[in-house]
Amino acid sequence: MTLREHWESVYETKAPDEVSWFQPHLEKSLELVERAAGGDRAAAIADIGGGASTLVDDLVARGYGNLSVLDLSQRALDLARRRIFAPEGAVRWIRGDATRDQFPAHSIDVWHDRAVFHFLTREEDRRSYVRAALRALRPGGHIIVSTFGPEGPPRCSGLETVRYDADSLHGEFGAAFQLIESTQELHRTPWGSEQQFLYCLCKVGDAKDTLPLLRHALEEAPAFTPEALMESVRTARVVKSGVLPELCFLEFDGDLTDWLVAQGKAKPVDSWACFHTAMYEIELAGVRCGVVARTIGGPYAVLIAEQLAAAGVKRIVGITSAGRISPELPLPCVVVAGSAVRDEGTSLHYLGAGRAVECPAASLAGLASALAATGWPVRCGEVWTTDAPYRETVSQLSQWAKEGVLAVEMQAASLYAFGQARGVEVAVVCMVSNAVDHEGEQFDTGGVEAGAGLLEACAIWSRG
Ligand SMILES: C[S@@+](CC[C@H](N)C(=O)[O-])C[C@H]1O[C@@H](n2cnc3c(N)ncnc32)[C@H](O)[C@@H]1O
Repeated sequence: MTLREHWESVYETKAPDEVSWFQPHLEKSLELVERAAGGDRAAAIADIGGGASTLVDDLVARGYGNLSVLDLSQRALDLARRRIFAPEGAVRWIRGDATRDQFPAHSIDVWHDRAVFHFLTREEDRRSYVRAALRALRPGGHIIVSTFGPEGPPRCSGLETVRYDADSLHGEFGAAFQLIESTQELHRTPWGSEQQFLYCLCKVGDAKDTLPLLRHALEEAPAFTPEALMESVRTARVVKSGVLPELCFLEFDGDLTDWLVAQGKAKPVDSWACFHTAMYEIELAGVRCGVVARTIGGPYAVLIAEQLAAAGVKRIVGITSAGRISPELPLPCVVVAGSAVRDEGTSLHYLGAGRAVECPAASLAGLASALAATGWPVRCGEVWTTDAPYRETVSQLSQWAKEGVLAVEMQAASLYAFGQARGVEVAVVCMVSNAVDHEGEQFDTGGVEAGAGLLEACAIWSRG
């Protein structure tokens, strides 16, 4: 017999007021649901495993008009639906399993479950239930779960149960849920025996509660500045002062810089006051350019970009290798990042949360056409910036491809947010050289000469 058949047969063989869990009115549940709804009669309230209970009747009677009752048993739902007198559209009846997603994401304000969760004896079912609840609840929403308490019965309705105290029940839900209140009730069955019930009311943390990254006072001045750090470097390493090039490249892979230095084309800049990097200087198309290598990832790239800007650099161009996302792109090719999806942390220190950030440099079309003059295939569009390339998944790659994202790299969103907040011109040029579905040679960017050609094209663009 399936679980559904079990519950259908319970409701076929017993009247709603003959089952052990029956109460004429779920007083404790009502009190907690009303508290969680905070007086909002339009709050979206879901009674999970509501069966044929009268909670929905009492909520309708109190004026709540956005109710859902979910249950495995159609028979239970029919019994309640036929009994209740509710305004059109006030109650949605959903036949389904609470361990599966049944509601649109973040659509529920109050999730109520009396005597359902304790039937989930398998850990994987409890995990799925919690995942479904967390997805359905809006941040800041509430969940009320009532189970048998530690002294409650080990079986009910012919099924095994798991008994909980407040800590163990809260432990099943985890840190995303903040326990607000727990209380016990001695329930009297229709035949007079007593059962210990536990009720827990929890609040779902909103993102700011659980993500320190969102707790930045963006308008407040920093306590530690790039100017102060560079002054320390000057003192500690006796660095002389000098004027830096107005255009500086951050060359993330570093092999191009190594080659330019080995060839004697790029010379060290001894006025660059930095604890972590060296700067080299090269003249390209008559433009004096700085090159700093291997500042890979958003935090390192922005750390150095801050120091460049503080030292007088006006324009920063990031040169990065990148993975292909759009299957339409030839390999290798160049993508000028017109915008970047902010799947990284650094940008949140500069801008409020958002999906993507635009490139803060002017005339990107000019940059794309200067790059195209080198013979590389060039596109301009959106890239996905990730902090964790070894956590890219196939489903993420296909989702971003569907959203029109061209390539994935590790710096653009961070640098663009920095550029927007600090008023610095920043552009990122991606050499797209690998793809999970690519059968040719991976990471082939056409050799260092081809890379040097891209630097020169950027210098031509910068010269205007
Ligand atoms: C003990 S009764 C409680 C009914 C009601 N909440 C009350 O307190 O009167 C358990 C209810 O949960 C339903 N149920 C059991 N497992 C479920 C699941 N995985 N998903 C949805 N409903 C479920 C059953 O059909 C039944 O109506």
